Amino acid sequence: MRMAGKHSHKPRSLPAAWRFIGPIFKRCRWRITAGILALLTVDLCQLVVPRIIKWAVDGLRNHTVDGSQLRNYAALIMLLALTVAVLRFMWRYLILGFSRLLEQDIRDALFHHLLSLDSAFFQRRSPGQLIALATNDLTSVQMACGMGLIAAIDALLMSFAAISCMAYIDLRLTLLAILPFPVLAVTTRILASRLHRHFKRVQEQFSLLTEEARGAINNIRLLKIYTREAAQCAQFDITGRSYIKHSLKVAKIQGVLFPASGFIANISLLIIVFFGGRMVISGTISIGGFVAFISYLFMLTWPMMALGWVSNLFQRGLTSLARIQEVMDERPLLQPVTAGRKIGRPDIISLRHLTFAYPGQERPRLKDINLDIRPGLLGIVGRTGSGKSTLCALLARLYPVEQGQLFINKLDVNDIDLNSCRRLLSFVPQSAALFSTTIARNIAFGAPETGRKEIEAAARAAAIHHEIMAFPKGYETEIGERGVLLSGGQQQRIALARALLLRAPILLIDDALAAVDAEAEAMIMAHIMAYAEENMVIMVTNRLSPLRQARQIAVLDKGRLTALGRHRELIAVSEIYRGIYAHQEFGNNKAELKNSADHLSNPACRRSYAA
Ligand SMILES: Nc1ncnc2c1ncn2[C@@H]1O[C@H](COP(=O)(O)OP(=O)(O)OP(=O)(O)O)[C@@H](O)[C@H]1O
Ligand SMILES: [Mg+2]
Repeated sequence: MRMAGKHSHKPRSLPAAWRFIGPIFKRCRWRITAGILALLTVDLCQLVVPRIIKWAVDGLRNHTVDGSQLRNYAALIMLLALTVAVLRFMWRYLILGFSRLLEQDIRDALFHHLLSLDSAFFQRRSPGQLIALATNDLTSVQMACGMGLIAAIDALLMSFAAISCMAYIDLRLTLLAILPFPVLAVTTRILASRLHRHFKRVQEQFSLLTEEARGAINNIRLLKIYTREAAQCAQFDITGRSYIKHSLKVAKIQGVLFPASGFIANISLLIIVFFGGRMVISGTISIGGFVAFISYLFMLTWPMMALGWVSNLFQRGLTSLARIQEVMDERPLLQPVTAGRKIGRPDIISLRHLTFAYPGQERPRLKDINLDIRPGLLGIVGRTGSGKSTLCALLARLYPVEQGQLFINKLDVNDIDLNSCRRLLSFVPQSAALFSTTIARNIAFGAPETGRKEIEAAARAAAIHHEIMAFPKGYETEIGERGVLLSGGQQQRIALARALLLRAPILLIDDALAAVDAEAEAMIMAHIMAYAEENMVIMVTNRLSPLRQARQIAVLDKGRLTALGRHRELIAVSEIYRGIYAHQEFGNNKAELKNSADHLSNPACRRSYAA
């Protein structure tokens, strides 16, 4: 899915970024303050060294220092170097540590927020994009707030202090030395905006790359069956190249930025040697002052180079933060009504003129449905695309429903606390989703404290217990993310066991027994019928045999409820139902024919018939 380009990731204004990360800065203010103090002390110590050199050189020239004084100077420089080493460790530990804490905070907030968003959002954003946010983008923000912040403070401070010290030695020479600086500032400005543009593309391409890798690994079987490995590799290579192309552009710009800063620093050096040298000759400044001046200029080189690097780090950080904030600004369509009513055991669910279109779509997929659901088994049948799963999703409160269309116990669902509403229900979706953990944990997903006895009972009810026990590790068998160890029917029955375990008053099964064989289906139905005596069971299926005992069967067609009744009534009145029935009877007859043919082709049987 090539969606990444659709979103705009203009770096937000600094105040917007600050609103987001400011609280984390405030929480870590002592750590940051201590770190910055350590940094300031390091800079101060470094500024003192050229002055000591100046004293030593001038003293030597004027023959005013002796050996012991020189030793003192050397000891002082040693002490300063030691202090610098210790404090450098301190600020790195404190500030880089802070940037890691910040990263952790944002990652947690992002994950927490993602889990609060609903299906509509995940339809728009691919997992690859979201993974890229939590990896690449988060790293950029962390870098900007760690190294970026420290380099910015350091560069500002060092340049200010170094220029002041230079000015103290000689103002005119200082003004000459910093003459090339504005050129550097302008160059940096131009290059930084280009850098931002390409960096944005790099991040987008990274999202795509992640998404492609994820898609391919998730659908590895499909790739193999359709022999698409080579094509997939080629596509991956194209995306990878595009990623590299933009990364190289970024590298190129950075490549210009650094030498440009170095070159300009060297022009300054040239100016100093030329004009400063003359000043020494004419005696305007001392030779010690000249040496110190050059030391300060070298100190300026790093901040000058850092200028480009820091602005790059900040640009990246702001771009990435904008991408993260865009997701953080998303709101779930279904606002959890925490102040809403809590609800007890449901006696009736009522649909009143229920009409529904998916978010962002015009066309309604459910139209004017009126239905009362009471305890017992309700079957829902209809051709593919008729809206069965959509109806399930609405009952499971996965999408918003308009006011006045869906009621539980005569209460509008919009006035009921969302979690309390969802807790009434257990849902077996159309495609079984399992986690890569043990079978026991998969079954107990909704209630992890459940004991083994209940887990086994649920598995028995879903007619899967014996098959689980046949695995060497039984319930402790680890299954792959998509249940690769298990057959489709086994996956469906584990998903069913997970729902049955909750013993919720509403059980919603969306065509989840399609891959289950007739024998297991009969066992499951026996359990479900017993369960339906006190609870509501809503079962979407296009196999009519389990629905013969249903209290009611609803027939959907193109989003409309076209018939409602028991099996016999529907055979009489609903053409669609009759069609499904006829199709199935034909299928059953074919299966029966095949069974008897297999039976007869078995030599043992043939013998018994012959006898
Ligand atoms: N998430 C979605 N966003 C937009 N449209 C959707 C979405 N899911 C389904 N639709 C559309 O809504 C209509 C009803 O789909 P639905 O999945 O409810 O059908 P169904 O009766 O469950 O079909 P099946 O028997 O194949 O499972 C279809 O036209 C489908 O394209
Ligand atoms: Mg469906």
